[in-house]
Amino acid sequence: MVKVLAILYDGGKHAEEQPKLLGTTENALGMRPYCEKNGIELVVTSDKEGPDSEFNKHIVDADVLITTPFHPGYLTRELIATAKNLKLAITAGVGSDHVDLNAANERKITVAEVTGSNVVSVAEHVIMTILVLVRNFVPAHEQIKAGDWEVAAVAKGEYDLEGKVVGTLGAGRIGFRVLQRLKPFDCKELLYYDYNSLPEDAAKEVGVRRVEDLKDFLSQCDVVTLNCPLHEGTKGIINKETISYMKDGAWLVNTARGALCVAEDVAEAVNSGKLSGYGGDVWPKQPAPADHCWRTMANPLTKGGNAMVPHMSGTSLDAQIRYANGAIKILDNWRNGVPQTQSDLITENGEYATLSYGQRTGKK
Ligand code: NAI
Repeated sequence: MVKVLAILYDGGKHAEEQPKLLGTTENALGMRPYCEKNGIELVVTSDKEGPDSEFNKHIVDADVLITTPFHPGYLTRELIATAKNLKLAITAGVGSDHVDLNAANERKITVAEVTGSNVVSVAEHVIMTILVLVRNFVPAHEQIKAGDWEVAAVAKGEYDLEGKVVGTLGAGRIGFRVLQRLKPFDCKELLYYDYNSLPEDAAKEVGVRRVEDLKDFLSQCDVVTLNCPLHEGTKGIINKETISYMKDGAWLVNTARGALCVAEDVAEAVNSGKLSGYGGDVWPKQPAPADHCWRTMANPLTKGGNAMVPHMSGTSLDAQIRYANGAIKILDNWRNGVPQTQSDLITENGEYATLSYGQRTGKK
């Protein structure tokens, strides 16, 4: 009997109120009927931390792991060593850095994700976050809730997006969709930094210019948006040194992965006023601790500049249907020996199957 272990977040009363919350433990990605019909043992849990967790207990004999980046079951090298039967790790969503991909390759575990399932959801969140920061929305809204009315206090940190230079670090599916959505804002210039170049017609469509040197790229942007996967080449790519290349008063948006940034360096840059603001939904470890420095950092001039939310951009209800169905399809392909859609594959047969997780040799 095939055993599938699903690590998902709890919905509680919200799952009762909203049955479309498919990514919860209660609704189990809508997989229960599929598993019952096909005689699959399905274990669903949110309990994922520590040696006594349900995750650690059940991974030992699971054939398939399914998890979401929103409440990731971190499949470390150590856990992989205990997971004797594991053949397939499915990401219900996009971004598989919660798996130690090198260790997965050594064991020839296939890692697959539902490519494209939430890229529009994230791109919309990026545009929202840029606007929330540049237009200094959060302190203005807090003022209203507090019963106050002091226009100057919020206008002193409020700008237009029009006329600014905006750059995306990573110009794949999400980065490109962000650029498409930025085009009508009449920014001064759109830039991208990526070792893979955009096709010429795509770059032309959005009017973006490629900058090949990271320092050169960061130093030209008023707004930087991070849209690359987390891997050895991008971990901590935003740190004290690279922040120093950025313009004074720039804004930084990160909906890609928290660990792309050195958290303390970002908080220091916001708290000191070097950055006007930072916003996003991804945290170095999730759930984020209650005292994480990104919860309370604030720009000294505006007392704002903080547009952080829990990991939610890619888990809109529209996205949940797509990644739930996509995860079942990947499982079904695997059970029936049907080749996976190539673009869904991160690792297969002991190799990286994508160009997005670093510049490697020996990739397909
Ligand atoms: P993609 O694979 O289409 O594009 C990623 C791009 O990043 C590629 O063009 C790649 O060449 C580039 N890249 C990789 N390393 C780089 C480096 N060192 N410097 C510059 N560029 C680099 O992936 P997609 O669909 O655009 O997703 C990107 C990431 O966004 C995911 O891996 C995930 O971490 C994150 N994500 C976050 C979500 C959320 O809910 N917050 C939801 C979906 C994705």
